[in-house]
Amino acid sequence: EMLEKGGFDHFMLKEIYEQPRSIRDCMRGRIYPEEGKVQLGGIKEFADKLKNIDRIIIVACGTSWHAGLVGEYLIEEYARIPVEVEYASEFRYRNPIITEKDVVIAISQSGETADTMAAIEMAKERGATIFGICNVAGASIPRLSHAGVYTHAGPEIGVASTKAFTAQVTVLTLMAFYMAQQRGAITTSKLIELLTELNEIPDKIQTALESNDIIKEVSEKIKDSRNCLFLGRGSGFPVALEGALKLKEISYIHAEGYPAAEMKHGPIALIDEEMPVVFIATQNSSYEKVISNIQEVKARKGKVIAIVTEGDVEVKKMADYCIEIPDANEAFLPLLATIPLQLLSYHIAVMRGCNVDQPRNLAKSVTVE
Ligand code: AGP
Repeated sequence: EMLEKGGFDHFMLKEIYEQPRSIRDCMRGRIYPEEGKVQLGGIKEFADKLKNIDRIIIVACGTSWHAGLVGEYLIEEYARIPVEVEYASEFRYRNPIITEKDVVIAISQSGETADTMAAIEMAKERGATIFGICNVAGASIPRLSHAGVYTHAGPEIGVASTKAFTAQVTVLTLMAFYMAQQRGAITTSKLIELLTELNEIPDKIQTALESNDIIKEVSEKIKDSRNCLFLGRGSGFPVALEGALKLKEISYIHAEGYPAAEMKHGPIALIDEEMPVVFIATQNSSYEKVISNIQEVKARKGKVIAIVTEGDVEVKKMADYCIEIPDANEAFLPLLATIPLQLLSYHIAVMRGCNVDQPRNLAKSVTVE
C-alpha cells in the first residue's frame, strides 16, 4: 500500500500533489494556445447544436456540484449561455421545465452516483441533450450520456475528492471556451491569451503546493476549532463551499461556505475570537469588496486566514495568517485557490488523528439515493 501511495502518508496527499500532472493530462490534445483553439472530440458532433441552445442545466452532487458552480461562472462569462446548477437529488424530484433546446451537463467523478443518473434519465426523456463529465472511463454516466468529456485525473482513492475536482473545473473551463468559440462569443486573440495562461496553470499549481509548510503552521493554530467559516466572492464562492466541505468531511469540524457579502445577513452573528474565517482574497475584480468583509470580521475579533495573491500588501495588514498563490487571470482562480484549502483540511485532519482517506460514514461513490 505504501508503494501505491507513492511515498506519501495518505492517498489524499498523493492526489493533492498529483494535480499539476492531472490537470496537464486533462488539457492534453484539447488546447492549442498558439492558434487560440479548443478541441473537445467528445462533444464535437454537437458543435452545431451548441450554436442554438437556449440554456444549460448542470446536475451533480457534492464536490462535483461545486465544480458545476464554477462552470456556471465560466460558461456565462465566456459563452454567454444562461446556466442553472442543480443538485441532482432535488432536480430529479421536481417537475423541471426541460426542452430539446437544453443541454444538461452531468458531472460525476465516479460516474455511478444514483441521483445524478436518475437526473440524466429524466432530462433525456424530456428531450435534452446530455453531456457527461466523468473521471471513470466506461462508467454508467458516460454510457447514459449522448456525449461527454473525460477528466483524465487518474484513479482517485481518497474518499474526499481533490484532483477530480480540479480536473472537473478544468474540463468546464475548456467547455466554456469551446462553446464561446463555437458561438463566436470570443475573439481568437482573447482565446490565445486565455489558453496561453491556462497552459501555465499546472506550473502555478506546483508553486501553490510549495506553501505546504506555512499551511501546516496555520493548521496547527486552528486545528482545535469547533467551527470554521469559508468566504469568497464570484468564483471564489464555490471554492469556499468546497473548502468547507473538505474540512467537514475529513476533520469533522463544522464548516460553512458562504458568499462573503452574505455574511452580514446572518453568519456574522457567529463571529468571535474562537471563529476562524478563511477568505479567498486574491487580487481580482472583487478584491476591494473582500477587504471590507475582512475588516468586518476583524472588528468582531474573528481569526482571519486569507488566501492571497503573491506579493499582496493590503490583506497582509489585516489578516492573522496569509497563504499566497501565484497571480493568474480570474478565470483560473478556482484552480489555484482550491489547492491551499485541500492542504489545510488535510493537515488539520491528520493533526486531529482522523482517518483522512476513509472518513467515517462516507463512501467514495453514493450508488443509493
Ligand atoms: C467529495 O469529497 C465527496 N465525498 C462527495 O461530495 C462527492 O463529490 C459526491 O458524492 C459526488 O460523487 P461523484 O462525483 O462520484 O458523482
